[in-house]
Amino acid sequence: MAMAHTLEDVRSYWNEYVNDIEVTEFPRGSDEFFAALERYRYDKIDYLRDYVGFDRYAGKKVLEIGCGVGHDLMQFARAGADVSARDLTENAVELATKNLAREGFSGDIRQGNAEALDFPDGTFDVVYSHGVLHHTVDTEKSIGEVHRVLKPGGEAIIMLYNRNSWLAFVAWISGTNIEHADKDAPIIRKYSTRECRAMFRKYSDVSIHVDRFPKRTLKFDNLFGKLNNYLLVPFFEILPDAIRRPLGWHIMIRANK
Ligand SMILES: C[S@@+](CC[C@H](N)C(=O)[O-])C[C@H]1O[C@@H](n2cnc3c(N)ncnc32)[C@H](O)[C@@H]1O
Repeated sequence: MAMAHTLEDVRSYWNEYVNDIEVTEFPRGSDEFFAALERYRYDKIDYLRDYVGFDRYAGKKVLEIGCGVGHDLMQFARAGADVSARDLTENAVELATKNLAREGFSGDIRQGNAEALDFPDGTFDVVYSHGVLHHTVDTEKSIGEVHRVLKPGGEAIIMLYNRNSWLAFVAWISGTNIEHADKDAPIIRKYSTRECRAMFRKYSDVSIHVDRFPKRTLKFDNLFGKLNNYLLVPFFEILPDAIRRPLGWHIMIRANK
Protein backbone atom coordinates (compact mmCIF):
# COMPACT_ATOMS: atom_id res chain seq x y z
CA MET A 1 0.00 0.00 0.00
CA ALA A 2 1.31 3.51 -0.82
CA MET A 3 2.42 5.62 2.16
CA ALA A 4 0.14 8.55 2.93
CA HIS A 5 1.73 11.90 2.15
CA THR A 6 2.57 14.28 4.98
CA LEU A 7 2.41 18.03 5.20
CA GLU A 8 6.21 18.03 4.93
CA ASP A 9 5.94 16.24 1.55
CA VAL A 10 3.50 18.95 0.42
CA ARG A 11 5.74 21.77 1.70
CA SER A 12 8.87 20.37 0.14
CA TYR A 13 7.22 19.83 -3.28
CA TRP A 14 5.72 23.35 -3.49
CA ASN A 15 8.90 24.93 -2.21
CA GLU A 16 10.77 23.40 -5.13
CA TYR A 17 7.99 23.73 -7.74
CA VAL A 18 6.75 27.27 -7.14
CA ASN A 19 3.57 27.48 -9.18
CA ASP A 20 4.15 28.23 -12.90
CA ILE A 21 7.61 29.83 -12.57
CA GLU A 22 8.96 27.63 -15.35
CA VAL A 23 7.08 29.74 -17.92
CA THR A 24 9.63 32.56 -17.65
CA GLU A 25 13.40 32.69 -17.88
CA PHE A 26 13.75 36.18 -16.46
CA PRO A 27 15.83 36.26 -13.26
CA ARG A 28 13.77 35.11 -10.33
CA GLY A 29 12.43 38.05 -8.34
CA SER A 30 13.04 40.65 -11.10
CA ASP A 31 10.29 43.01 -12.31
CA GLU A 32 10.26 41.20 -15.68
CA PHE A 33 9.85 37.85 -13.91
CA PHE A 34 6.78 39.01 -11.97
CA ALA A 35 5.31 40.78 -15.01
CA ALA A 36 5.69 37.68 -17.23
CA LEU A 37 4.10 35.45 -14.60
CA GLU A 38 1.23 37.83 -14.06
CA ARG A 39 0.52 38.00 -17.80
CA TYR A 40 0.63 34.20 -18.04
CA ARG A 41 -1.67 33.74 -15.05
CA TYR A 42 -4.52 36.03 -16.14
CA ASP A 43 -4.31 34.82 -19.71
CA LYS A 44 -4.58 31.19 -18.60
CA ILE A 45 -7.13 31.85 -15.86
CA ASP A 46 -9.05 34.33 -17.95
CA TYR A 47 -12.22 34.33 -15.86
CA LEU A 48 -10.55 35.15 -12.54
CA ARG A 49 -10.39 38.95 -12.37
CA ASP A 50 -14.00 39.41 -13.50
CA TYR A 51 -15.30 36.60 -11.32
CA VAL A 52 -13.58 37.71 -8.11
CA GLY A 53 -13.98 41.44 -8.70
CA PHE A 54 -10.91 42.32 -6.59
CA ASP A 55 -11.85 46.03 -6.66
CA ARG A 56 -14.86 45.35 -4.47
CA TYR A 57 -12.64 44.61 -1.50
CA ALA A 58 -11.15 48.06 -0.81
CA GLY A 59 -10.75 48.54 2.95
CA LYS A 60 -11.58 44.88 3.72
CA LYS A 61 -9.41 42.59 5.81
CA VAL A 62 -8.43 39.81 3.39
CA LEU A 63 -6.50 36.59 4.07
CA GLU A 64 -5.09 34.59 1.16
CA ILE A 65 -4.19 30.97 1.95
CA GLY A 66 -1.50 29.49 -0.31
CA CYS A 67 -0.55 32.78 -1.98
CA GLY A 68 2.27 31.34 -4.13
CA VAL A 69 4.03 34.19 -5.93
CA GLY A 70 1.28 36.55 -4.77
CA HIS A 71 -0.51 37.57 -7.98
CA ASP A 72 -4.00 37.48 -6.51
CA LEU A 73 -2.77 39.02 -3.26
CA MET A 74 -1.40 41.86 -5.40
CA GLN A 75 -4.85 42.38 -6.98
CA PHE A 76 -6.40 42.73 -3.52
CA ALA A 77 -3.58 45.07 -2.41
CA ARG A 78 -3.95 47.24 -5.52
CA ALA A 79 -7.66 47.46 -4.78
CA GLY A 80 -6.90 48.87 -1.32
CA ALA A 81 -7.57 45.78 0.82
CA ASP A 82 -5.67 45.15 4.07
CA VAL A 83 -3.89 41.93 3.06
CA SER A 84 -2.51 38.95 4.96
CA ALA A 85 -1.25 35.68 3.51
CA ARG A 86 -0.11 32.29 4.68
CA ASP A 87 1.72 29.71 2.57
CA LEU A 88 3.46 26.52 3.65
CA THR A 89 6.68 27.40 1.85
CA GLU A 90 9.45 29.89 2.48
CA ASN A 91 9.89 30.48 -1.27
CA ALA A 92 6.27 31.62 -1.69
CA VAL A 93 6.55 33.95 1.30
CA GLU A 94 9.76 35.47 -0.04
CA LEU A 95 8.41 35.91 -3.58
CA ALA A 96 4.99 37.24 -2.59
CA THR A 97 6.57 39.75 -0.20
CA LYS A 98 8.95 40.90 -2.93
CA ASN A 99 6.15 41.05 -5.49
CA LEU A 100 4.00 43.37 -3.37
CA ALA A 101 6.96 45.51 -2.29
CA ARG A 102 7.72 46.36 -5.96
CA GLU A 103 4.54 48.44 -5.97
CA GLY A 104 4.94 49.75 -2.44
CA PHE A 105 2.51 47.29 -0.81
CA SER A 106 3.05 45.16 2.25
CA GLY A 107 1.03 42.88 4.46
CA ASP A 108 1.27 40.18 7.08
CA ILE A 109 2.77 37.53 4.77
CA ARG A 110 4.23 34.51 6.54
CA GLN A 111 4.66 30.77 6.50
CA GLY A 112 1.61 29.02 7.86
CA ASN A 113 -0.62 26.02 7.48
CA ALA A 114 -4.18 26.12 6.13
CA GLU A 115 -5.11 23.34 8.55
CA ALA A 116 -4.08 25.28 11.66
CA LEU A 117 -4.23 29.02 10.97
CA ASP A 118 -2.49 31.28 13.47
CA PHE A 119 -5.37 33.76 13.75
CA PRO A 120 -8.13 34.18 16.35
CA ASP A 121 -11.74 33.34 15.43
CA GLY A 122 -13.58 35.97 13.40
CA THR A 123 -10.55 37.94 12.12
CA PHE A 124 -11.24 38.42 8.38
CA ASP A 125 -13.90 39.89 6.09
CA VAL A 126 -12.67 37.67 3.25
CA VAL A 127 -10.68 34.44 3.07
CA TYR A 128 -9.45 33.65 -0.44
CA SER A 129 -7.67 30.53 -1.63
CA HIS A 130 -7.13 29.54 -5.25
CA GLY A 131 -5.91 26.07 -6.10
CA VAL A 132 -4.55 25.21 -2.66
CA LEU A 133 -6.85 23.35 -0.29
CA HIS A 134 -7.06 20.26 -2.55
CA HIS A 135 -3.27 19.91 -2.16
CA THR A 136 -3.19 19.72 1.61
CA VAL A 137 -3.42 16.62 3.81
CA ASP A 138 -6.83 17.38 5.35
CA THR A 139 -8.91 19.51 3.00
CA GLU A 140 -12.07 19.47 5.15
CA LYS A 141 -10.09 20.62 8.19
CA SER A 142 -8.74 23.57 6.20
CA ILE A 143 -12.27 24.51 5.09
CA GLY A 144 -13.21 24.47 8.79
CA GLU A 145 -10.30 26.82 9.50
CA VAL A 146 -11.47 29.21 6.77
CA HIS A 147 -14.87 29.30 8.50
CA ARG A 148 -13.32 29.83 11.94
CA VAL A 149 -11.17 32.84 10.98
CA LEU A 150 -13.97 34.57 9.03
CA LYS A 151 -16.04 37.23 10.78
CA PRO A 152 -19.77 36.44 10.97
CA GLY A 153 -21.11 37.30 7.51
CA GLY A 154 -17.56 37.17 6.07
CA GLU A 155 -16.98 35.71 2.63
CA ALA A 156 -14.98 32.66 1.55
CA ILE A 157 -13.79 32.53 -2.08
CA ILE A 158 -12.21 29.15 -2.74
CA MET A 159 -11.16 27.23 -5.84
CA LEU A 160 -11.03 23.44 -5.84
CA TYR A 161 -10.39 21.10 -8.77
CA ASN A 162 -13.31 19.52 -10.61
CA ARG A 163 -13.14 15.74 -10.89
CA ASN A 164 -15.63 15.71 -13.80
CA SER A 165 -13.57 18.04 -15.95
CA TRP A 166 -11.74 17.95 -19.28
CA LEU A 167 -8.33 18.14 -17.58
CA ALA A 168 -8.99 15.33 -15.10
CA PHE A 169 -10.12 13.21 -18.07
CA VAL A 170 -7.15 14.09 -20.29
CA ALA A 171 -4.64 13.49 -17.48
CA TRP A 172 -6.25 10.15 -16.64
CA ILE A 173 -6.41 8.87 -20.20
CA SER A 174 -2.92 10.08 -21.23
CA GLY A 175 -1.10 9.51 -17.94
CA THR A 176 0.00 13.18 -18.09
CA ASN A 177 0.85 15.11 -14.94
CA ILE A 178 -1.46 17.89 -13.90
CA GLU A 179 0.79 20.34 -12.10
CA HIS A 180 4.30 20.03 -13.54
CA ALA A 181 5.49 18.01 -16.53
CA ASP A 182 8.31 16.19 -14.73
CA LYS A 183 6.79 15.67 -11.29
CA ASP A 184 3.27 15.93 -9.96
CA ALA A 185 2.23 17.33 -6.59
CA PRO A 186 2.05 14.71 -3.81
CA ILE A 187 -1.64 15.40 -3.15
CA ILE A 188 -4.11 16.49 -5.85
CA ARG A 189 -7.71 15.90 -4.80
CA LYS A 190 -10.63 16.53 -7.11
CA TYR A 191 -14.27 17.04 -6.22
CA SER A 192 -17.69 17.11 -7.79
CA THR A 193 -19.81 20.25 -7.36
CA ARG A 194 -22.10 18.20 -5.11
CA GLU A 195 -19.17 17.29 -2.83
CA CYS A 196 -18.15 20.95 -2.69
CA ARG A 197 -21.62 21.94 -1.54
CA ALA A 198 -21.45 19.23 1.13
CA MET A 199 -18.06 20.48 2.39
CA PHE A 200 -19.43 24.04 2.66
CA ARG A 201 -22.62 22.98 4.48
CA LYS A 202 -21.78 25.20 7.51
CA TYR A 203 -21.81 28.28 5.27
CA SER A 204 -24.81 30.19 3.89
CA ASP A 205 -25.41 31.55 0.37
CA VAL A 206 -23.10 29.02 -1.26
CA SER A 207 -22.70 29.71 -4.96
CA ILE A 208 -20.68 27.68 -7.42
CA HIS A 209 -19.17 28.68 -10.74
CA VAL A 210 -17.31 26.19 -12.94
CA ASP A 211 -14.68 27.59 -15.31
CA ARG A 212 -11.14 27.20 -16.79
CA PHE A 213 -11.29 25.59 -20.21
CA PRO A 214 -8.35 24.59 -22.41
CA LYS A 215 -6.05 27.49 -23.33
CA ARG A 216 -3.00 27.49 -25.57
CA THR A 217 -0.08 26.63 -23.30
CA LEU A 218 3.66 27.30 -23.20
CA LYS A 219 4.01 25.13 -20.17
CA PHE A 220 3.97 21.63 -21.59
CA ASP A 221 6.40 21.31 -24.50
CA ASN A 222 5.39 17.73 -25.22
CA LEU A 223 2.69 15.73 -26.98
CA PHE A 224 0.11 16.86 -24.44
CA GLY A 225 0.99 20.51 -25.14
CA LYS A 226 0.50 20.00 -28.89
CA LEU A 227 -2.76 18.08 -28.54
CA ASN A 228 -3.95 20.76 -26.16
CA ASN A 229 -3.08 23.63 -28.48
CA TYR A 230 -4.25 22.17 -31.79
CA LEU A 231 -7.11 19.87 -30.80
CA LEU A 232 -8.60 20.54 -27.39
CA VAL A 233 -8.57 24.35 -27.52
CA PRO A 234 -10.38 24.62 -30.88
CA PHE A 235 -12.81 21.86 -29.89
CA PHE A 236 -13.80 23.59 -26.65
CA GLU A 237 -14.18 26.90 -28.48
CA ILE A 238 -17.02 25.51 -30.57
CA LEU A 239 -18.81 23.50 -27.86
CA PRO A 240 -22.12 25.02 -26.72
CA ASP A 241 -21.83 26.49 -23.22
CA ALA A 242 -24.42 24.10 -21.76
CA ILE A 243 -22.15 21.15 -22.60
CA ARG A 244 -18.83 22.89 -21.95
CA ARG A 245 -19.60 24.59 -18.64
CA PRO A 246 -19.80 21.57 -16.28
CA LEU A 247 -16.46 20.31 -17.69
CA GLY A 248 -14.34 23.25 -16.48
CA TRP A 249 -11.30 22.40 -14.35
CA HIS A 250 -11.94 24.95 -11.62
CA ILE A 251 -14.84 24.93 -9.19
CA MET A 252 -15.07 28.44 -7.72
CA ILE A 253 -17.04 28.49 -4.48
CA ARG A 254 -18.33 31.67 -2.87
CA ALA A 255 -19.94 31.31 0.51
CA ASN A 256 -20.74 33.37 3.58
CA LYS A 257 -20.19 32.51 7.22
C1 LIG B 1 -0.85 25.33 -7.01
S1 LIG B 1 -0.03 26.42 -5.90
C2 LIG B 1 -1.17 27.78 -5.98
C3 LIG B 1 -0.55 29.08 -5.61
C4 LIG B 1 -1.44 30.30 -5.84
N1 LIG B 1 -2.64 30.28 -5.06
C5 LIG B 1 -1.77 30.40 -7.32
O1 LIG B 1 -2.94 30.23 -7.68
O2 LIG B 1 -0.82 30.60 -8.09
C6 LIG B 1 -0.38 25.71 -4.31
C7 LIG B 1 0.14 26.55 -3.15
O3 LIG B 1 -0.52 26.09 -1.95
C8 LIG B 1 0.43 26.07 -0.91
N2 LIG B 1 -0.07 25.13 0.10
C9 LIG B 1 -0.31 23.80 -0.04
N3 LIG B 1 -0.77 23.28 1.12
C10 LIG B 1 -0.83 24.31 2.01
C11 LIG B 1 -1.21 24.42 3.37
N4 LIG B 1 -1.62 23.35 4.07
N5 LIG B 1 -1.15 25.62 3.97
C12 LIG B 1 -0.72 26.72 3.28
N6 LIG B 1 -0.34 26.68 1.99
C13 LIG B 1 -0.40 25.50 1.35
C14 LIG B 1 1.70 25.64 -1.59
O4 LIG B 1 2.84 25.95 -0.83
C15 LIG B 1 1.63 26.40 -2.91
O5 LIG B 1 2.22 27.68 -2.81
